[in-house]
Amino acid sequence: MFNDFIRHLFPRMVLRENLKISYTFCLGGMAFTLFLLLALSGMLLALYYQPHSAHAYASILFIEEEVFGGHFLHSLHRTASNLYLLLMFLHTLRVLLTGAYRPPRQLNWLIGFILLCLALFSGYTGYLLPMDQLALWATQTGMELLRILPLGEVLHGFLVPDAVGEPLSLLRFYMLHVVILPMATLLLCFLHFYHIRRQKGALPYL
Ligand code: HEM
Ligand code: HEM
Repeated sequence: MFNDFIRHLFPRMVLRENLKISYTFCLGGMAFTLFLLLALSGMLLALYYQPHSAHAYASILFIEEEVFGGHFLHSLHRTASNLYLLLMFLHTLRVLLTGAYRPPRQLNWLIGFILLCLALFSGYTGYLLPMDQLALWATQTGMELLRILPLGEVLHGFLVPDAVGEPLSLLRFYMLHVVILPMATLLLCFLHFYHIRRQKGALPYL
């Protein structure tokens, strides 16, 4: 039964054109690799990071100065987060330029778009966590901008029940950053890959 299940995940026919590196540049694959790197480095950081307003900044200083490899790990997480977004934008550009958003791939385009929104939100929630002045004021600005959008007040009330950087809002940003958003991203990535496999028989547009 297990073998049957695995066999059904793979298409019967794969077009050589669809596998060419000059067509995909493997940008999606590289974005996923960086997501895995972010998850790994993030989990290691979470062993020392304390999601409380009074201790967060001190725990970052501790990671930077006392933890073995802490400075490297912190920089790795931050650099990988920038590269992750960059690769995703380049992947989107590739999909746009090759017209791969058109039927039959329109659903995967939509899933990809949600993945892009999740990545941007992951970066935004992560940005508050170090709780330095830059983090506080940048998040404050973003939250004020959110208020003017439709349903903005409701979202603001959910994300910031006290004030930006106060205990409850920091905890919500933390939970979103390390549990909810990564799990949603992983789930959608698998759905994205499932559709890619299913459509490997469809011709590329270029
Ligand atoms: C399972 C996934 C993840 C976990 C467990 C995780 C965990 C953490 C933790 C504990 C921190 C606070 C420590 C610190 O500031 O270095 C942090 C910060 C941060 N994370 Fe993540 N993270 C994950 C995924 C991501 C993703 C997907 C992104 C990017 C889009 C991201 C972007 C950031 C950013 C920008 C910071 C602030 C870094 C700084 O400026 O100090 N993280 N993350
Ligand atoms: C976490 C983010 C993402 C990951 C890991 C990912 C991964 C992948 C992979 C591995 C492929 C196979 C071919 C390739 O590498 O180009 C692919 C194809 C595709 N992706 Fe993504 N992707 C992501 C985000 C996006 C975004 C933001 C969009 C668009 C808004 C998108 C739309 C598509 C479409 C339409 C295809 C099919 C293209 C074709 O068959 O030519 N993806 N993705």
